[in-house]
Amino acid sequence: GLERCRAIDLPIVHDPRGNLTFIESNRHVPFDIKRVYYLYDVPGGAERGGHAHKNLEQLLIAMSGSFDVILDDGLAKQTFSLNRSYRGLYIERLVWREIVNFSSGAVCMVLASDFYDETDYYRDYDEFIKAVRGTVPVG
Ligand code: TYD
Repeated sequence: GLERCRAIDLPIVHDPRGNLTFIESNRHVPFDIKRVYYLYDVPGGAERGGHAHKNLEQLLIAMSGSFDVILDDGLAKQTFSLNRSYRGLYIERLVWREIVNFSSGAVCMVLASDFYDETDYYRDYDEFIKAVRGTVPVG
């Protein structure tokens, strides 16, 4: 659920020549990293996401620019603003996400716990709600 989603501050090696951040599987993210993908060249006003995953865990990082991530576990919603290349947003399984308000030049890098699998997606919000309310009692 939402309570396990959180911002994770990654290590920074400060250097006058430029800073360095690194991410190690199961150390700085609570899963094995099996896939990396990124969103870029996002036109003004465009929105991404609009789905939840049955099992996938992810870490989102604003490598450049900024955007907002709206998380929804079927019980509550929370918005996170990402704009630092040393801060990730951990998203647990069964959390609906919308990514909005991309700045120009924004790059959203995603570290994922598994390979791409379309059958792992809930792309229909009502179906997602039905699924989570079936396993998570409301109220
Ligand atoms: P989708 O996950 O819906 O994008 P977002 O959540 O960022 O808006 O994926 C968009 C399309 O890209 C979809 O047709 C599947 C394809 N895709 C892959 O082939 N491999 C991947 O690793 C990802 C993330 C998407």
